[in-house]
Amino acid sequence: MSTSPQVAATPLIYNDWYPAMRSRELRGRKLRAAMLMGIPMVLGRRDDGRLFAMRDNCPHRGIPLSCGWFDGRELTCRYHGWAFEPASGQCNRIPSLTSHDTLDPSKIYATAFPCEERDGYAWVYVPAPGSGRVRAESLPPVPEAPKFGAKFRSAHLTADLPCNVDHGIIGLMDPAHGPFVHQAWWWRKRASIHEKEKQFEPIPEGFRMSAHAPSGNSAPYKLLGVYGEPITTTIDFVLPNRRYETIRCGQKWFSSLTTVTPTTANACRIDVYAAWNVFYAVPFVKPIAKFFGKRFVRQDQVTMIQQAEGLKHDPSLMLIDDADRPAKWYFALKQARLEGVPERHPMSGPVTLHWRS
Ligand code: FES
Ligand SMILES: [Fe+2]
Repeated sequence: MSTSPQVAATPLIYNDWYPAMRSRELRGRKLRAAMLMGIPMVLGRRDDGRLFAMRDNCPHRGIPLSCGWFDGRELTCRYHGWAFEPASGQCNRIPSLTSHDTLDPSKIYATAFPCEERDGYAWVYVPAPGSGRVRAESLPPVPEAPKFGAKFRSAHLTADLPCNVDHGIIGLMDPAHGPFVHQAWWWRKRASIHEKEKQFEPIPEGFRMSAHAPSGNSAPYKLLGVYGEPITTTIDFVLPNRRYETIRCGQKWFSSLTTVTPTTANACRIDVYAAWNVFYAVPFVKPIAKFFGKRFVRQDQVTMIQQAEGLKHDPSLMLIDDADRPAKWYFALKQARLEGVPERHPMSGPVTLHWRS
């Protein structure tokens, strides 16, 4: 039997928050299975509204807990009926025990992960394998797109990518693919390629493309320009997988958080959350924005599906200056984090990069 070639795996960054799924899918007493960082998970929502995420294996015999029953308070395994409090994973009951047994069920825990709802996602904190129980007080803040007012609209987009998370992330920050992958009359024409100069600066575990007036050749930005005030854009990349983009124009703003999340060591998913108060009063903006956003993400997805075909045969690859410099920074930052020296930064100060796109 021959095994078909596979896209290469990559080391994963643990001890951080990742979006496991849309939180609106966690309604009522439904249990939902998800794959995150190669770990099968079961998610749900308790009657008090709190989300939970557990490893989708019963600690007794490993059957998926998602096959069991959830009454809004307790998750009961369908095999021998062990009952668990899902947020802590603590076992409340083992039905087979008799007065002759000394086993204390409350000493048994199914694996439970910290799980919080932000921007319509169930974010799950994934500790390094074997690191034991996580203390809630010691966790970093749950990621969230910045908002600049209480009134805004928002939308979500998602696409599965058949490549490892590194390719998903460097595709996300790749400035040179735009004119080829995202060619469309409403976005920009390939003939409009011109030289760009962008300022970057180091930020903790990431880098920032400093505020600037965005490219005049992008139709959506031209649309924003109707407000007649200067536009500033900031794009931050922060480990392990987050791209924050903020566009502000006077009182108007657009903000997005895009993440590329490893579902396994060789597959990932891109999630885009966007919030805005631009054109707040205009009807149909959300469906139109979603339509164009979907096409945009779909173009990246199609390209990565094609790329994954090529990557199956383990080709050697290149990173060139300056267009691939952000990708080099990403790999250096990731390596520092994996080696336990997250403060080691590949940039010693602000850098100007040039490329044509
Ligand atoms: S396998 Fe879950 S209770 Fe036995
Ligand atoms: Fe893209």
